[in-house]
Amino acid sequence: MLTALIPGSFDPFTLGHLDLVRRAYALSDRVIVAVAHNPHKSARIPFDARCEAIRETLAREGLADRASVDTLPGGLLVEGAKKLGATHLVKGIRNAQDLAYEEPMARANMDLGGLDTLFLLTDPALAHISSSLVREIYSLGGDASRYLPDASMRALAAACTTPAVDSKEQS
Ligand code: PNS
Repeated sequence: MLTALIPGSFDPFTLGHLDLVRRAYALSDRVIVAVAHNPHKSARIPFDARCEAIRETLAREGLADRASVDTLPGGLLVEGAKKLGATHLVKGIRNAQDLAYEEPMARANMDLGGLDTLFLLTDPALAHISSSLVREIYSLGGDASRYLPDASMRALAAACTTPAVDSKEQS
């Protein structure tokens, strides 16, 4: 039983993330989209709203039979991933910078917990999309909806009517 775990902050979950889930779904028996509190970032969208937007998107895209959303506790990613039953991690690689950033983490996750990481090259049509870029476009009045599933767009719009949340306040 191959269970892929796709970890991330997903602030918000983009069309690039959705493409990664679709491709992991085709390669694995189960996919877990694991939403994390990243202590190095303050989140724009509240944690529960991010999870709910991803759940809605997976259902709408017909992926919910084998893809689900779960949460990662703080601490080592390998430990959280193993508790959730993951057999491997899946990460999207948009460019050389992504690979340079992900390579040592993949090696550490293998070293610390024997957990392999499958790197999938991002579709070139989606390779310029990042959650931070989408947040910036939205905050400057641009059309962020072209980069987001509907549920993520609604979550971002709702979050931007309230002050930013700090990751420590989101439990
Ligand atoms: O870039 P993101 O989306 O905010 O990433 C969130 C997450 C959970 C994927 C990231 O914070 C992460 O991989 N943390 C790993 C923490 C860890 O286990 N470090 C030690 C070995 S890599």
